[in-house]
Amino acid sequence: MRVAKTNAELHAALAEVDGKTVAFVPTMGALHAGHLSLVAQAKTKAQVVVLSIFVNPLQFAAGEDLEKYPRPIEADLAAAETAGVDIVFNPSVEEIYPPTQGMQQEKAGPIGEVLEGLGRPGHFDGMLTVVARLFDLVQPDFAIFGAKDAQQLFLVRQLASRRNAAGRHPLQIIEAETVRNETGLALSSRNQYLSAEQLETALVLNRALLEGATEETPMATLDAATAVLRTSPKAKLEYLALVEDETFMPVSEDFHGKARLLVAAKVGETRLIDNLPVYY
Ligand code: PAJ
Repeated sequence: MRVAKTNAELHAALAEVDGKTVAFVPTMGALHAGHLSLVAQAKTKAQVVVLSIFVNPLQFAAGEDLEKYPRPIEADLAAAETAGVDIVFNPSVEEIYPPTQGMQQEKAGPIGEVLEGLGRPGHFDGMLTVVARLFDLVQPDFAIFGAKDAQQLFLVRQLASRRNAAGRHPLQIIEAETVRNETGLALSSRNQYLSAEQLETALVLNRALLEGATEETPMATLDAATAVLRTSPKAKLEYLALVEDETFMPVSEDFHGKARLLVAAKVGETRLIDNLPVYY
């Protein structure tokens, strides 16, 4: 496994595998089985797997956990190696955002303003800006993103469509299913912030989604999920929403097709999100 810390090192590592197909897994590190499932999927898609580890300051709003976000780089490199990653890209902030160079800023548009975007101003613009920058540097054929961050995945798909339409190196976005622990909790690097009691409280998110997903109509879904969330007031609900998978717009009561039930809540100081597909 090659570890590139600079754009030049990445360029050199990619030159060595020139002509081979590349699948890319962008992460912020603190790797867990969810990230590693993306790597496994990447390996089935292409000959070379590139994994990036970069905690992107641009996508953290003021007062969020940028400073305390976990950065266990040695453990991450060992996990990446075991998972069969070929190239790890672990750049500094200066490498990604050179102070002397004007930066191409991406805009998420209207879907970047709702749900996750409402409570985290600038988050999706910052996320798309780094993802576009990483796509430019890695030039992958495939990029793998988790359904756990459904709104991110939706916006990244839009970004890839824009880039493909503009004649950039053709890129296909691959969706990977959410990996959960044995209690149903969606794996997240932020779960490390939770105490044993908070881990227990956090389970209400998945329970609410599962309950809602069994219902026959959108209204019944939202009612059932809300009822479950009310049983656990220690999880401070930020939103519960049901959107069309294809447009991320709220579903109407007569909607038929694939929807997504999304939840965000704070447990203590830790913000958690989860979602499940629902079919009507
Ligand atoms: P991060 O939170 O590290 O997640 C990296 C990728 O792993 C994302 O595509 C995310 O959806 C996926 N992922 C996280 N938890 C998962 C789980 N339990 N099951 C399946 N996939 C999971 O998302 C980011 O980083 C950043 O926003 C990034 C795209 C790297 C841009 O900075």
